[in-house]
Amino acid sequence: MNCNIEITPGLYYVGANDYRTQKFEALWTLPHGVSYNSYLMVDEKVALIDTIEAKYTETFLTNIRNILGSRGIDYLIINHMEPDHSASIAAVRRAYPDVQIVGNPKTIDMINGFYGICHNMLVVKEGDTLHLGEKDLTFYPIPMVHWPETMATYCPQEKILFSGDAFGCFGALVGGVIDEDICCDIYWDEMYRYYASIVGKYGVPVQNALKKLAPLPIDIICTTHGPVWKKYTKKVIDIYDRLSRHESEKGVVIVYGSMYGNTARMAEEIAQAIGSQGIDKVVLYDISTVDKSVVLRDIFRYNSLIIGSATYNTGLFPDIEALLSALRNREVKSKVYGCFGSFSWAGRAVKELTAFGNDMHWTMPGAPVEMRQGFSDAIIGQCRELAKSIAAELKKC
Ligand code: FEO
Repeated sequence: MNCNIEITPGLYYVGANDYRTQKFEALWTLPHGVSYNSYLMVDEKVALIDTIEAKYTETFLTNIRNILGSRGIDYLIINHMEPDHSASIAAVRRAYPDVQIVGNPKTIDMINGFYGICHNMLVVKEGDTLHLGEKDLTFYPIPMVHWPETMATYCPQEKILFSGDAFGCFGALVGGVIDEDICCDIYWDEMYRYYASIVGKYGVPVQNALKKLAPLPIDIICTTHGPVWKKYTKKVIDIYDRLSRHESEKGVVIVYGSMYGNTARMAEEIAQAIGSQGIDKVVLYDISTVDKSVVLRDIFRYNSLIIGSATYNTGLFPDIEALLSALRNREVKSKVYGCFGSFSWAGRAVKELTAFGNDMHWTMPGAPVEMRQGFSDAIIGQCRELAKSIAAELKKC
């Protein structure tokens, strides 16, 4: 995207879309691309809020020049230092040598560490305000959403929150940048997937940020990824609130790793049995073929999780082991949990899956099912019993 869009009088979008990167952070797929958002506030003074990914620096500088012409930038405000937002800081400083860089002490330290820039900096703390003319910008550190220096910037005259990654989502901006001007259908799933992948570990800091920002009247949220939220401001705050409290919908994720189809067959049997118990939201994933961020997304979305694994080299199926690590890392809470698996000559996976559920302090209403070698009527019966126990527990929720 090479366009300038006025969001409110004097506030312009100067970011860019990325359809080229296959995996965000080299980890998370981008089927709908991603946007790196930056905003230019033009008043008696000019403030640029965040920069963008290095691949798009030239587009970014062109967007800025198209608005400012020969005019300079007074302030560059840095809400977040992850390189998808900070990588163009040095280029902005080269193009606008007099720009003063604004950040909290942690930000200023990181700018020096990443880019060797340490002069003409303005250090701000909570509640400090920059007067641009008719508009002000006030700063609110929101640490660990999802880096230590993360900060939000608020314009009280326009009731606009520049939130950094908070309230962001995957998905490039098509046909405009403000939610009310574009079709937002793709962004809701992409918000869950973004949250689960990027921010999911930091539920408590997100809750702290929401509490800190709650007294501010907010009409518009200018996040660093995804649409400018104007029509759906309340909805996106609610989604982040629910996700960061690990509040989920009634539904079951079944995910398994299977080498020769035996554990897969157990998964199908359990899914079928849960459906027959009247639970209509059941999703089933083969971990070896599915996008891992989709699995994480649905684990954050639904309140029940059933994991299956073949025993592999006397341990877990490797992709399942990686999933457990991701869930442990994100301290995922409050699941109705079950597990199952199969082995040929050394049962191990089901023991490890059971221990995992206990370690996570999840509710485990049914007996784990462990299959040795081939399928049998007895195993079918145990799969159905596990499904029945899970469904009964969900009906209490
Ligand atoms: Fe979009 Fe935390 O960077």
